[in-house]
Amino acid sequence: MPEVIARAASERGELVLQRRDGALELRVNGVFVMDTEHTETERLLAAETLRAVERDRLRVLIGGLGLGFTLREVLADERVAEAHVVEIEPDLIDWHRRGLVPDTAEALQDPRTRVSAGDVAEVLGEQEPCDVLLLDVDNGPDFLVYEDNSALYEAAFLRRCAGALAPGGTLAVWSADTSEPLLAAMREVFGECAELAIPVSLGRRETTYHLFVSRKQVEFEQAGFEDSFEHQ
Ligand SMILES: C[S@@+](CC[C@H](N)C(=O)[O-])C[C@H]1O[C@@H](n2cnc3c(N)ncnc32)[C@H](O)[C@@H]1O
Repeated sequence: MPEVIARAASERGELVLQRRDGALELRVNGVFVMDTEHTETERLLAAETLRAVERDRLRVLIGGLGLGFTLREVLADERVAEAHVVEIEPDLIDWHRRGLVPDTAEALQDPRTRVSAGDVAEVLGEQEPCDVLLLDVDNGPDFLVYEDNSALYEAAFLRRCAGALAPGGTLAVWSADTSEPLLAAMREVFGECAELAIPVSLGRRETTYHLFVSRKQVEFEQAGFEDSFEHQ
């Protein structure tokens, strides 16, 4: 039986942090979101994306705090000057601040970290342009925990992501499965998209998780979007 560490109710339902077989697990309305046992792809979302970025003093925006592994990996890159995390569940942020997720507690205390409570779809574009935008807010377009997040995998929102990126900036999206529509939408907006399929071993089950990575061209132009950035 899992041991419940914290439980909260939000307008989206019930959020539970529990310990199972020594690992911490996050669930929403009974649906598994992630655990501390299998975090490779959450970390690769940051590491693989940052590896391909050739610039310094990076501003990184992360959609979805989860258990903090993407954030921790972002901060491991010394070029990162600021990591802004937007998390929709305020109680989850509070649990982190109370030290209930020891694996990533230091990341939350790092002076480069800023955590905001809110929906990334609403916050996006309010901040200064970022160099890297990492989205891991749900299980991907076909396995949604929050139905409202479906729009976050569509071209209109991805176009807003492009608008929030500095010229030459990179968007990476985590998904539990491949998705032709997501790949097509990324290509429609950015002109290109690399898909990385990462094999993952979940106990006895073998699967692949996917990262979709696109770079905003320096000469990026967007119909109907007023680009106020200074092009390099
Ligand atoms: C899979 S977890 C993120 C895991 C994270 N990458 C990590 O390394 O631990 C998804 C997180 O996104 C949050 N979330 C869901 N929808 C969101 C939204 N629209 N805006 C911001 N955060 C959201 C969830 O509450 C959850 O904490």
